[in-house]
Formats: sequence, structure tokens, C-alpha cells
Amino acid sequence: MNTLKILLVIIIITGVASWFVAVADEGGTGISSANGEKDKTIRGYSANDEVPVRVDQESIGKGKVLFERLCTHCHNTASSPPKGNVKMRAPGLKGILKEDVLPFSKKPATARNILNQLNKSFDKMPSFHFLSEDEKLNIIAFLNTL
Ligand code: HEC
Repeated sequence: MNTLKILLVIIIITGVASWFVAVADEGGTGISSANGEKDKTIRGYSANDEVPVRVDQESIGKGKVLFERLCTHCHNTASSPPKGNVKMRAPGLKGILKEDVLPFSKKPATARNILNQLNKSFDKMPSFHFLSEDEKLNIIAFLNTL
């Protein structure tokens, strides 16, 4: 009888624990990253593909408007990201996609890693998960012109 009770408690605990894990997971990016986080396919291309950078003027223009509204009170576009481990308010983003690595996470400077960054907060950089994928890709299109 006691064994049965213990078994029942174990079953309940594992149930609750997996629920917590599932809930916590919903806050994640859903997008693949180099460190093997949970993957979900981004619309139109598979999880391990590089995210294509949009180069049309319409996307760049829309991205610029969003960037000015959401990013410029922390980031400027006149200076390049700092080299090395300099901590500052927020890195200048000039040429961000032309660098080898992103200034703080040190992940390769790719559209996908910036997209991941926008989906998840990172230290003092807030999350922009509330933007649509379209909007995020437009911001990246604009970043690519800096
Ligand atoms: C509240 C201030 C703030 C806002 C708003 C903000 N950022 Fe940041 N961002 C930061 C800080 C600070 C860092 C440096 C890393 C850190 O401390 O988290 C950073 C880092 C970054 C990086 C480098 C990430 C890396 O992996 O090294 C990119 C790219 C970036 N931000 C893009 C953006 C874009 C695009 C927007 C607008 C959609 C934006 N940020 C809005 C503060 C901000």
C-alpha cells in the first residue's frame, strides 16, 4: 500500500515538473541557435538554414522606421560595435552584419543570430519577441545597410 502511495506521489511530481518545463519553454525563441536550443522552422526555410537578409528597398525602409522607434534610444548607427570585451550602454551597430562576431554574445554575426537575439533578451538588451517575424526581418534588412 505504501509503495503505491509513493508511486502516486512520484507520478504527480513528474507531471507537475514536465508542465513547468513546457510552460517555461513557451517563452523561448523557438528558433534554432548554435547552442542546441529547441528548434522550430522559421517560415519558408528550415531550422538549420541561414536566414536570408532582405535587400529590397521596401523592407529596408520599413526596418529603418522600426529601428528608429525601438532601438535608437539605446543604439547608435554612427559607430561600429566595440572590439574586445568593452561593456558600454549599448554597442554602436554600424556594420554589425559585416563583423565576424556579434559584439557581446560573440556568436557569428549572422541574420539568424540577430533574429535569435531579438526574440530573447540578453543581459541588458531587451527582447523584441512581440514583433512579427516580418518586422524583425525588416529590421535586419536595415541593419545590413549600416
Ligand atoms: C534598452 C536598451 C536597448 C534597446 C532598446 C535595444 N538594445 Fe540592443 N543591446 C543593448 C545592450 C545594452 C546590448 C549589449 C549587450 C547587453 O548588455 O545585453 C545590446 C546588444 C545588441 C546587439 C548585439 C548582440 C550580441 O549578440 O552581441 C544587437 C545586434 C542589438 N543589440 C540589436 C538591437 C536592435 C535591432 C534593437 C531594436 C529592435 C535593439 N538592439 C534595442 C541595449 C538595447
